[in-house]
Order: sequence, then C-alpha cells, then structure tokens
Amino acid sequence: ASVSDRKPLALAFEAISGAHKDAVVVPEGYTAQVLVPWGTPLKSGGQWHPAQAMTAEQQAASVGMHHDGMAGFALDSQSASHRFVLALNNEYIDQDALWSTQGGPTNAEEGKRPAEESRTEINAHGVTLVEVQKDGEGRWTHVPGSSYNRRLTSATVMDLGGPVAGSDYVKTRFSPNGAQTRGTNNNCGNGVTPWGTYIACEENWPNIFVNTGERFIDDARIGIPTERSRYGWETSAGDVSEDDDEFARFDITPRGEGATDDYRNEARTFGYQVEVDPYTNQRAVKRTALGRFRHEGCWMGKLEAGEPVVFYSGHDARNEYVYKFVSDAGWDPADANRPGEQYDRLAIGAKYMDKGTLYTARFNADGSGEWLPLTPTATSRDGRQLAAALGLAEDDLAGVIVHTCDAADLMGATPMDRPEWATVDPASGEVYLTLTNNSQRTEKASSPTYTNDGEDIAQPGIGFKTAPTNAANPRPDNSAGHIIRWRDDKHSNAFGWEVFVFGAGVNDADNLSGLTEQNQFASPDGLWFDEREGGEGILWIQTDNGYESVTQYTNDQLLAVVPSALKAGNGSGDPVVKQNNQHHIKRFAVGPNGCEVTGIFTTPDKTALFINIQHPGNWPADDASLAQDATHEASGSVRPRAATVVIQKKDGGPVAV
Ligand code: FEO
Ligand code: CA
Ligand code: CA
Ligand code: CA
Repeated sequence: ASVSDRKPLALAFEAISGAHKDAVVVPEGYTAQVLVPWGTPLKSGGQWHPAQAMTAEQQAASVGMHHDGMAGFALDSQSASHRFVLALNNEYIDQDALWSTQGGPTNAEEGKRPAEESRTEINAHGVTLVEVQKDGEGRWTHVPGSSYNRRLTSATVMDLGGPVAGSDYVKTRFSPNGAQTRGTNNNCGNGVTPWGTYIACEENWPNIFVNTGERFIDDARIGIPTERSRYGWETSAGDVSEDDDEFARFDITPRGEGATDDYRNEARTFGYQVEVDPYTNQRAVKRTALGRFRHEGCWMGKLEAGEPVVFYSGHDARNEYVYKFVSDAGWDPADANRPGEQYDRLAIGAKYMDKGTLYTARFNADGSGEWLPLTPTATSRDGRQLAAALGLAEDDLAGVIVHTCDAADLMGATPMDRPEWATVDPASGEVYLTLTNNSQRTEKASSPTYTNDGEDIAQPGIGFKTAPTNAANPRPDNSAGHIIRWRDDKHSNAFGWEVFVFGAGVNDADNLSGLTEQNQFASPDGLWFDEREGGEGILWIQTDNGYESVTQYTNDQLLAVVPSALKAGNGSGDPVVKQNNQHHIKRFAVGPNGCEVTGIFTTPDKTALFINIQHPGNWPADDASLAQDATHEASGSVRPRAATVVIQKKDGGPVAV
C-alpha cells in the first residue's frame, strides 16, 4: 500500500477502568502472563519454592529482584518474535520478601549485618540476562541453562571507559590504575543501542555508600549518606577476614591518602551508564563520558547516517537536570547489530560513547531552550571557565565529569520535577520526558534562598534543595507530574519545547489536561515509543504513583496515546493534550496492589507486549496451576515477587491496534 492509502495509527482496545486488585488487569480480549519472577533459577534443574531461604550462591544464579527497565535482543531475524535474550534491570530489593523465611533481615537499621545476608542482597541487585521463548500455545518460558543466561550484580567486575577511566579519581585498592570497579547498582531505566548492546543505568547508587568523615563536593552534592548506608553492607566488613574489602569498600570515609582502608574513590566508580553485550560474556563497561549522576535511563536520539549519535538522560531527584551526550563519531550503518553473532560490540560502543560532548539543558520561559556544554573550557554563568570555577586543573575533563551535577549548577541548568524516562518519536525525532513529581517545588514568590537579581542560582556541593516554579515546571508542589517534549535543532545547541500532558489535578482548575477518571494518571515514570508500520508510534506511559486523587481509585497503570493524531504544540507551554482531545489517552493495563509499572518493549511483530511489575504487595499467586496467570489473585497472602508480564491478544494479533 502506498503511504496515502495507509490508515492513520489508532488505538483499538476498550480502555479499562481503574482497579485495586492483587492482579494485573488488561482489556477484554487480552491475556497477561507472569514470566521470570524474582528467584527463578537460571541454570537447569533448579526450582523456586515459595518457602525457600535464599542464599548468596543461589541468588547469584537466579533472576534478581525488583525488575525495572528491560529490552529484548533477537538471536536471528527469523525467530526474533518468539525467542530472544531478555535483559532486565534489578533495581533494588524488598528485604522483607527476601528474608521472609527468617522473619526479616538481621539488623537492618543498626548493628552488624551478617556477611551472608549482605552478599545475598548484593547478588539480588544488578542485571539479569535470560533467554526466553514462546511455545506453540503462545506461552512464554525461560530457557534454563541457556549459554546466554547471566547475572551482573553489585559485585561483578566491570571496566571503566571514557575520560574518567584511569584518572586519579577512580584509583582504588581494587584497581590501582583506575581501570576497573566492582558492581553496578540500582539500575533503573535502560537503553538499547543500534549496535546491539544493553545500557543499564545507575540511579540511586549513592545510598549503598556511607561517608562519616570529611565530604568531598561531589559526595555532598550527590547525597552520599553520612551515618549508615541504605542496607548497611559496610557493617559486614571484617566478617570474612581482616583485610578483605568486599564490604569495607562501601564506607568511603577518608582515612588518609594511601591508607589501605581508604576507599574514598569507590563511589566515584558509580553513577554511570553501563554498557552490556547481551550476546557474549564480555565484561560490562561503565561509559563515563555520559556523565556521573543518578541516571534514570539512556535514550537514543533519532539516528542518521554520518551524523553524531545522541543519548539523552535525566537525573531523577528533586530539582535535578536533563542531560544529553553527543558523540564525536558519525553513525556508520555498518555498525548496526548483527543479532546473535559473537563479536566485539563493546569496541563499537567505545567509538560512540567514550568520545563526545556532554550537555545539560536550560528551558527558557518562551518555549526555547539551550544545551549547555559541560567541558573544562565552557564559560560558566559567572564568566569563569568551568574547570576553574570547579577548582579543577584547566583541562581536567575527568574532574568535570566526576562533578557533573556541580558543573551543571555552574552552567545554569534548569531544575526539573524529577526527570524519569525519555523516549524519542521515531517519526519526528521529538524527545518526550516524564517529570514524575516534586514536593520541593515552591511558588515563585516564596523562594528567597537561591534568588539573585531575580535569577535562581544553584550552589556546587548543594544544588537546589528547593526551587521556585519555572516555565517547564510550572506547578508548585507538583504531586501529579507532567510530560514535556522538545525538538533539538541539528545545527545549533537550541531546542524548542512544550508541555505534552499534565498529570491529574484535584479540581477542575488544577486539571490542566482535562483528564477524566477513565484516563487520569499521576507520577508518570516509564515512557516508550512503540514504532508501528509507517513510522508512527504509540506512546506508552507507565506510572509510579503516590497521588491520592488517583490512588483512591486505581493502582499504578499503563496508558497509551498516539501523539501524531494530536495537533502539534503551539510553543506557548500550553498542554498539547488539552488543546486537542483528552480522550486520546487510553488506560491499557492496571498493576497489582502496591506495585509500580515499569520497563516496556514489544516483540518485533508487535504481538507480545512486555512490562515489569515492581514491588507488588501480594502477587503473583503461587499455586502451581495458576501461577503463570498474571490476572489471577492469590487466595491468601503470598511472598511477593517482582516479575515480567507478557500481554498478548487472544487472537494473536498486534497489541493495542
Ligand atoms: Fe528508579 Fe527514578 O526511578
Ligand atoms: Ca523503580
Ligand atoms: Ca523510574
Ligand atoms: Ca519513579
């Protein structure tokens, strides 16, 4: 069919109402199946038992906890829609579920954690790679013992790549030349590169460290705890042997330059984009050129042959910033993934991700924006060169990257309402970004702290603790969040932006996008463009909600909208959804009680939609006959397990259309 005969993309499912169930709810005509829940053994012969006591060894060979971002990697073009390597992030842990057989964790709040417990928790974090396949009846299973099955944990040895690698900032007792580190943590959203690698993004990693002594500017700015780390792994030090640094390394308190128990640089090996080859056992590489902060995810700009490759990422914390990285190398289509083949994809990753320029975003009130370079010689807002303003040597790019957030403060980046996922419209190249919520957003007039001649100034080492409203973040105490979008100008550092949709309001005046109970949401988090025939895309929106006017009638959810069916924005910052027809947004699925809905992709043939259910309260049901059915409620209370859910149409057709 020619372009002109093609029907515009339209959503064809019956939107569902909100729900509060210990089950996944999907539209009429769809099924939802549980796949690879936490604890699923990756080797052959193993079996999960609801009453099992988890061990460190067993956890290292099983699916990790709290599934988040994920992607599927085809093994060849013929089988791509029924067999692939699933890569998924295991963001953090539910200690009560992990230790339910012993009545909870030992000394979670204070005192010494047993080494075996800390090691088990370390192994429950990271990334899971597992081969999955669909049988003749349309049921998905994992392939125990597949050579692709692999775990990366908070202890797995990884390489450092890019400007920070080998610098003094990352020389540690473990890696005296600063070439390696151990572990990746709190991997939240994800990225997928066109050369066939998976990006696991380090988000809330500062919390696994503690510094009880003198703090460096970057430690303070990023929020390394000062009394005890989130799980207290550092307290297990000495359980193994006196000089073992397996756990001691999480305490980065400076003890004296060169002292054997000085781990000050350990935390500087975290906060990066981590590149993983899902097809080989190659060591993962932390791509430091893309900046050091709480990376929510990693999203590629629209590719063009010969043009630089662009990666977007948000720093998910209140009043933090949006970033992009632009490669020096132009995209060579010969570097595109050859599914299933074993070759050095990470060398291709080095080409596009180790050399380039990192920028942070300034959103202006008139709908324009500017990408501000984070290079040593960039001119900061006070007129000094950026490296000098940070107190660094004039050519210290590694230092600027280690201090990414402080550098962005000095350049005048716009503090945002917690940037979560982004996604790029495959047709237009426009970038969409969720701003999930912000309890530290104040009325313009009531924020005296960081005001200087009417401008809002962030301080290195501090950032913005609170920030007044600005055009891109216009709601004080933004509890419901919003989604913005922008268009980069290929030939300059300029962009144009507008709000696409605002999350729920509590009253008519506050309901800025005119949503109704049938499509209301709050705290948008996951976001993904699902490209369909002809290049148009479905925009999927996932939520991680704590906003009472929505939680009172529904759990977290998955919604869909086709932005190309709406008129373009008017550049005034008015919400695009309100200008058109709010009913374009349709609720597709609702998750179980207590969960957030996150992680998303489809098979290439669009017949299976994969999502993740993170931190459910009492799901999935564990009785053998129905355990696979995500829509089934347990009869009693179960040990909750985060899991992937596969949503398919009963007639086998493409989902949502
Ligand atoms: Fe891990 Fe910002 O969500
Ligand atoms: Ca999460
Ligand atoms: Ca998230
Ligand atoms: Ca969230």
